[in-house]
Amino acid sequence: MPVPKAELHLHIEGTLEPELAFALAARNGVTLPYADTEALREAYRFSDLQSFLDLYYSLMAVLRTADDFTELADAYLARAAEQGVRHAEIFFDPQAHAVRGVPMGVVVEGLGAALDRAEERHGISTRLIMCFLRDESAESAMATLDAAKPYLDRIIGVGLDSAEVGHPPAKFREVYEEAARLGLRRVAHAGEEGPAAYIREALDVLGVERVDHGLRCLEDPNLVARLVRDRVPLTLCPLSNVRLRAIDVLEQHPLREMLSAGLVATVNSDDPAYFGGYAGDNFDAVRGALGLGEEELRTLARNSFEASFLEDDEERRER
Ligand code: HPA
Ligand code: ZN
Repeated sequence: MPVPKAELHLHIEGTLEPELAFALAARNGVTLPYADTEALREAYRFSDLQSFLDLYYSLMAVLRTADDFTELADAYLARAAEQGVRHAEIFFDPQAHAVRGVPMGVVVEGLGAALDRAEERHGISTRLIMCFLRDESAESAMATLDAAKPYLDRIIGVGLDSAEVGHPPAKFREVYEEAARLGLRRVAHAGEEGPAAYIREALDVLGVERVDHGLRCLEDPNLVARLVRDRVPLTLCPLSNVRLRAIDVLEQHPLREMLSAGLVATVNSDDPAYFGGYAGDNFDAVRGALGLGEEELRTLARNSFEASFLEDDEERRER
C-alpha cells in the first residue's frame, strides 16, 4: 500500500495524457500536429520551462467543454488514488482557456463535477486553486480574478505559474491584495527557474503561505532560516525538476538536504502526464535516487498534510 499523502502542486492541465488528448481532439474536431500518441510522447523532451510550456499550452486546444474538464479531472483522481493520494489541491489556468473562448464557468463547473464526487469515487478530498499566468499582464490577472467572483464557493485560493524569469512576484501585488480581501489563500511558484529573491518577494509582497517549488531557496541561507523558522512549506516536484533541467539528475536533487535543514518539504508531481509520473512515482523515484529511509518518507507524508489547506480536524481524518 502506498503511503497516504496530500498532493499540493498539481496542474490539472498537466495531467492530460496523450490517449485522452487524442480522444478529446477527435470528439471536438481539433487536429493535433502529431501522428499518434507515440509521436506526441516523443515530443516530451524539454530543455527548460519554456519549451515545456509551449507544448503544454498548445495541447490544451483539445479541452473545450465542461465534460472534457470533468473527464480530465476524473482520470487524474483515479490515478492519484491508486498512488495513495488522499487529498489534492489542484491548480488550473483559467487564462489559458479564456484565450480559446472557454470561459471560467465552463472550466470551474467541469472540474467541479469531478471534484464533487471525488470523495465518494476515489476517496480523495479536493480543493481548487486558480493560477494566474505571470507572463501575462497584471491587468489580465485582475480581470481573471474578477471573472472568478461568481465561483468563489468552489475556489479556495490563487497561485502564480508559467514563465518565471523576468516576471517577479511584485508584478502581481494588487491582484494578491484583492485576493486576500476576498478571503482567498495565496501561493505562488517561485525559485523554480527564478532566483531566491523571487521567493522572498512572494512572501513579502504577495503574502504567500506556501511556496511552489522554492528549489533555489538554498542559494540564500538567511531565506532558508526564515522558511524553517516560519514553517513555510515548499511544494517540490522532483521529476519535474529533472525533466525541465532545473537539476541534471535526480541523484542531485537537494530534497534530503532540505529535510535535514528542517524545511517543510513536500513531494508532488506538477504535470505528471509530461514529467514521467504521478505523486507516488515521485515518492518512489526520490526514495530510490536519494536512498531515503522510512523516517524521511513519513516526514514527507506528514508534511504534505501539515502544508495543506485542510483544517486540523479534516487533516487528522485524512491521515
Ligand atoms: N512551472 C511553471 N508553470 C507551470 C508549470 C511549472 O512547472 N506547470 C504548469 N505551469
Ligand atoms: Zn507547477
